[in-house]
Amino acid sequence: MKILICYFSGTGNTRRIAESFAYNLQVRGNDVQTVSIDGLTLEKKLPQELVQQIEQCDLFGIGYPVYAFNAPPIALGFAKRLPRLVQSKRAFVFNCSGEPLKLNNISSLKLCGLLRRRRFDVTNEYHYCMPYNIMFRHSDEMAHKMWETAQALVPLDVEEILQGQKHLLKRVKCGKLIAWVMRCQQWGGQLNGRMYRVSKDCVKCGKCVNSCPTHNIRITKKGKFRFGGKCLMCMRCAHLCPKNAIKIGMFNSWKVNGPYTFAQPKNEQEQQKYNKMLTKAYAQYFDEAERRINNEKH
Ligand SMILES: Cc1cc2nc3c(=O)[nH]c(=O)nc-3n(C[C@H](O)[C@H](O)[C@H](O)COP(=O)(O)O)c2cc1C
Repeated sequence: MKILICYFSGTGNTRRIAESFAYNLQVRGNDVQTVSIDGLTLEKKLPQELVQQIEQCDLFGIGYPVYAFNAPPIALGFAKRLPRLVQSKRAFVFNCSGEPLKLNNISSLKLCGLLRRRRFDVTNEYHYCMPYNIMFRHSDEMAHKMWETAQALVPLDVEEILQGQKHLLKRVKCGKLIAWVMRCQQWGGQLNGRMYRVSKDCVKCGKCVNSCPTHNIRITKKGKFRFGGKCLMCMRCAHLCPKNAIKIGMFNSWKVNGPYTFAQPKNEQEQQKYNKMLTKAYAQYFDEAERRINNEKH
């Protein structure tokens, strides 16, 4: 089966999940391609080559990180540019978020609507908890646990997709309304993006300029940084900055700088750090995941 997975990932978590999906589908004998949608919404239309890939695949997957209980505008913009299919095609959606809250399940409502209007038959949806890239930094041990759990869940989810078993996420009541209200984050993000500043620690390595998915950052001839109005607040620039020199406007106290190592806990002291982070919702998420993983093993 030909499978195409398109994804957006601000700081790498969704990319990890997308690659895990690709790996698990490939080892089951499928021909899988993954495509990052960075920059694809800058033009009115998707590249013709990608449109052909979309039309020719047997199964289509799309992944994104949850932003304010919604899919990021780049994922919605991408979905709006998808071709309307002549014949309906099966599709699956996956996302990741910093919290295991059920409310996050409403994030795919608009995206699934857009996909269905283009004749993508969304039969499977999956959510994974991955470390926060804004608000606060999860401990490395917690990040490890999240990634380890996601890696154990993806093969089970892939099996469900391949067996043709439907799996849709349960929504909370009034989900559509809540998601609609929370989409104000999108213009709030654009506004806040204009308030980004660069501190004196900047070494002008250009990582932020070159990696911005909407090409929103530029350096003037005088060496000054300019942040435009297309910011997604994906946090990539601030996260990747080697000097922690980017100030993210009103939300600077929520900044998370530097990649997660996803390393295994080394000693008891570190393990305790992880335990402190394990609030009720996280405990429930891990318990449910463990139960499912163990059930499949027996
Ligand atoms: C602007 C923004 C909004 C976010 N909103 C939510 C949210 O509503 N719920 C949640 O659990 N996580 C939220 N997160 C956290 C991300 O979904 C999470 O860190 C995710 O793993 C990032 O994936 P990525 O590395 O692929 O970008 C938000 C992150 C950002 C940057």
